[in-house]
Amino acid sequence: MKSYKAKMVEPIELPSREEREAALERAGYNAFNLDARDVYIDLLTDSGTGTMSAEQWAAMIRGDEAYAGSESFARLAESVRDVMGFEHVVPTHQGRGAENVLYGVLLEDGDVVPNNSHFDTTRAHVVNQGAEPVDCPSPASRDPNSTETFKGNFDIDAGYALVEEVGADAIPVVVLTITNNSVAGQPVSMANIRATAEFARDIDAMFVIDACRFAENAHFIKTHEAGYENHSVAEIARAQFEHADAITMSGKKDALVNIGGFAAMRDETVFEHAKQRAILYEGFPTYGGLSGRDIEAMAVGLREAVTPPYVSDRVEQVAELGDLLVEAGVPVYQPTGGHAVYLDAGEVFPHIPKDEFPGQELVCALYLEGGVRGVELGGFAFPGTDRPDLVRLALPRRTYSREHLEHVAETAAKVMASAGEYGGLEIVEEPPMKELRHFSARLEPVSN
Ligand code: F0G
Repeated sequence: MKSYKAKMVEPIELPSREEREAALERAGYNAFNLDARDVYIDLLTDSGTGTMSAEQWAAMIRGDEAYAGSESFARLAESVRDVMGFEHVVPTHQGRGAENVLYGVLLEDGDVVPNNSHFDTTRAHVVNQGAEPVDCPSPASRDPNSTETFKGNFDIDAGYALVEEVGADAIPVVVLTITNNSVAGQPVSMANIRATAEFARDIDAMFVIDACRFAENAHFIKTHEAGYENHSVAEIARAQFEHADAITMSGKKDALVNIGGFAAMRDETVFEHAKQRAILYEGFPTYGGLSGRDIEAMAVGLREAVTPPYVSDRVEQVAELGDLLVEAGVPVYQPTGGHAVYLDAGEVFPHIPKDEFPGQELVCALYLEGGVRGVELGGFAFPGTDRPDLVRLALPRRTYSREHLEHVAETAAKVMASAGEYGGLEIVEEPPMKELRHFSARLEPVSN
């Protein structure tokens, strides 16, 4: 049952087939280059695209725009203390700002950083400090059909194998990303959070959590991990952080805002250094590149994220989209993650070779058939890897209704019905940095 109703609406329109064809050609067959007004259902990302509550909008009016010592900052610090259990918080303009601030303090040239899976900006910030990011995803994550629940887990054995290889001294930080965005939004169990914390302690490293989707992760622990059924999401959310030394947070996810983020930590010295770095890159440490009203919205959103029934509604809606797509015969990564459904384009288009980007072709096909925008997270976005060609359909929070989801499933079914008619794509223009090519490259159908 839905626990909210719309208070403000935004018109959307499905452009005609001819208009969609023209828009896609103009965009160079890259959905990032589409104008948002040409998109009917926008599932490009769940980041900053959700709907704020009336309470959040009301709080924005209260925003204290003082350069230093604003009351809005005090309210954010109180929320972070109550919801996540950290004493010290440094606001930043978004999650990657928090990564820059924290990893700039913690990492040095030649360091090695294990993570269950780095998100792309996290990877880039680790590399930017001269360190090497290493992914240690759970072996279960490799099977898209296994319905095991915590496929986002950190592989502790892989962590120790890395220690063998590079030595514990090279690893100052161990990171855990909850939920695991790069592994189909799969959750991490409380047992694995504890085991990863122990691993970090054992090798004398700091334990950092990438907390973007902490409330969704807590929901999975409540519904799937023995012993947590009777705990509230708020209690579980806090317990997740009990063993962490620091977190980076993108408020654009589970703080339910359109912009904002923060780093939080326990250690006084790390806090002092992080504030200095924040002044350089983000702004004075009581506003961190945000207006007071943005900070107010984040302070309220953090609390809403762990207040029932917000997060059960949220994760169930994503599962509902997953179910509709499975019913439509679309190959879906199992089980459905917390923020998105991931489609296996390699199975949709078995006739398109990997180097002709079946995932990107599926993104284009979904747009052509129904004005739906997703994002490729396979061989196009991660060149040189052997990742499966997944396409992510990420749901903005509190934004779309069942009818929208049905339209997405019908669109995907149309693509499945005419899958044989789709050919591959080739890149005709790309930026110098290969890792960022999916944001701006231009492509063309191979047959051209
Ligand atoms: N960490 C994770 C796990 C993320 O998913 C993201 C953003 C970030 C860090 C960076 O946060 O965007 O506020 O700077 N993910 C978005 C996505 C962009 O579409 O998955 P940010």
